[in-house]
Amino acid sequence: MTIKITGTGSELPEKIVTNFDMQELVETSDEWIRERTGIAERRISTGETVSSLSAKACQKALEMAGKAASEVELIIVATCSPELLLPCCACQVQDMIGASNAAAFDMNAACSGFLFALNTVNAYLQAGIYKNALIAGSEVLSKLVDWTDRGTCVLFGDGAGAAFVEASADDAVYDNGRKAGLECMVQGSDGAKGMVLSCAERPVNNAFVSEKQTVNPYIQMNGQEVYKFATRQVPACINKALDKAGLCVDDVDLFILHQANVRIIESVAKRLKADIAKFPMNLDKVGNMSSATIPVLLDELNRSGKIKKGDRIVLSGFGAGLTYGASVLVW
Ligand code: ACO
Repeated sequence: MTIKITGTGSELPEKIVTNFDMQELVETSDEWIRERTGIAERRISTGETVSSLSAKACQKALEMAGKAASEVELIIVATCSPELLLPCCACQVQDMIGASNAAAFDMNAACSGFLFALNTVNAYLQAGIYKNALIAGSEVLSKLVDWTDRGTCVLFGDGAGAAFVEASADDAVYDNGRKAGLECMVQGSDGAKGMVLSCAERPVNNAFVSEKQTVNPYIQMNGQEVYKFATRQVPACINKALDKAGLCVDDVDLFILHQANVRIIESVAKRLKADIAKFPMNLDKVGNMSSATIPVLLDELNRSGKIKKGDRIVLSGFGAGLTYGASVLVW
């Protein structure tokens, strides 16, 4: 038994906000943002929600897989920016798309969320508990960003990507000797360093607390610490995953990394001694969408025919938590 991604989909808000638009809001420049991050523009919600974006991305993934919503057995939405604490986004998505036979829950591993959800689905499917699952990575980070803080507001965007994953008994070997499926995964967390990238929820101010607290409700980030974490941990965990699978960097066709920053991706490629051409990027157009970056890029590559059957892909996520991971799969 193996798992296959048989459908992908994505959905972005309509509004495009360029670096020149950002110049009107904070003291910054198109040149600074491009040089330090690689971002030129991002999509920003003017009303779209994590649930509405997820539902549209999920519908597109189902359509590609040729499945009806009623056939979906599990829905996981990876998000750190839900509009409601209760009910979870996945239950809202279930209702919006009419997947009434599915179990549904959310998962928060920030920018590693989609990857952790895929690994979780793999475990469910391998165990024979479910036969298929819909996974979405979806964020409206624009509501968590302080639009007066130039150090963070230029980095993020809103959007959603989704994948439909099915258990498959197909053991066929492609011409290149590879079999479709998830070959190996590595996941890790470093909670001790978690506060280098944080966003507070409401404080405990219940009827029994005498000194009421206030919190800053926006994303706080130590950019240089995040940069150091990503550039060390990502190549290390990709190497670990490849070692575990008995593979080397040259055996990989594409590295689909969380799209946080061009400089991080270039540094990872250099440390792995891998050709940067194997690291597709789209963050110039969409910015950092946390859990949505990997599935949105995956959908773009899939729909444009840039991923072919038999390709070996490494997916790697890293972000708040701190969380990180790498999964090796054959398409
Ligand atoms: N425009 C112009 N100047 C700016 C801006 C901006 N948008 N933001 C910060 N600056 C200024 C700072 O105020 C500082 O000025 P000073 O020297 O007068 O004090 C100067 O630029 C340098 O600031 P640094 O924070 O040292 O800039 P750095 O070179 O580290 O770049 C960046 C900042 C791009 C955030 C970098 O640290 C980075 O890439 N970090 C990785 C973090 C990341 O990608 N986070 C995304 C979320 S986490 C994730 O997805 C994994």
